[in-house]
Amino acid sequence: MAMTSDAQTMFELIKRRRSIRSYTNQDVSPEHIQVLLEAAMAAPSGNDARPWDFVVVRDAALRKKIAETHTWSSMAASAPVVIVVCGDESSKHWIADTSAATENILLQASAMGLGALWVGIYPTTRYEEHIRSVLGIPANRRVLCVIPIGWPAEKKEPRTRYEASKVHYDKF
Ligand SMILES: Cc1cc2nc3c(=O)[nH]c(=O)nc-3n(C[C@H](O)[C@H](O)[C@H](O)COP(=O)(O)O)c2cc1C
Repeated sequence: MAMTSDAQTMFELIKRRRSIRSYTNQDVSPEHIQVLLEAAMAAPSGNDARPWDFVVVRDAALRKKIAETHTWSSMAASAPVVIVVCGDESSKHWIADTSAATENILLQASAMGLGALWVGIYPTTRYEEHIRSVLGIPANRRVLCVIPIGWPAEKKEPRTRYEASKVHYDKF
């Protein structure tokens, strides 16, 4: 099958997105963050409700507190920027919508040469409460994840992990 160059580029970009957990000291510009937020809000959304909010955290003391959320969130302290993805739980699609927005951020970050990763917060209540109290997030907003973002200090190979056994045709 011949792919257009757009399709080929998209496929390469999707495979290039990897979880990057180590960053240089170089800052990430507000213009880069603006592009990531616009990519986030281009995501599909059930009933077009767009039940998301994003908290952009640069303050080092706040990032350190975010890093202390759990054992696997330490990169928030060393990344120059962390985007915290919140969802309005009055929308029944909040998890799906904010997940789509998160993936858009990760893909756009990767395409711009930035390193990022999805650090899970939801569905563990005490992790959500910790982030909520650190950042003053209202009680009616859920916290899906935090996304540490910086210039990569590690290199990972592009990959797909396609498994034919996970694909079913017509019936399961
Ligand atoms: C819902 C979710 C939660 C995750 N939580 C964490 C986390 O807390 N800490 C972490 O280092 N990585 C986390 N990750 C990243 C995964 O470990 C990573 O995506 C997986 O190992 C595959 O590697 P890749 O992203 O490089 O393809 C999470 C990913 C998802 C989708």
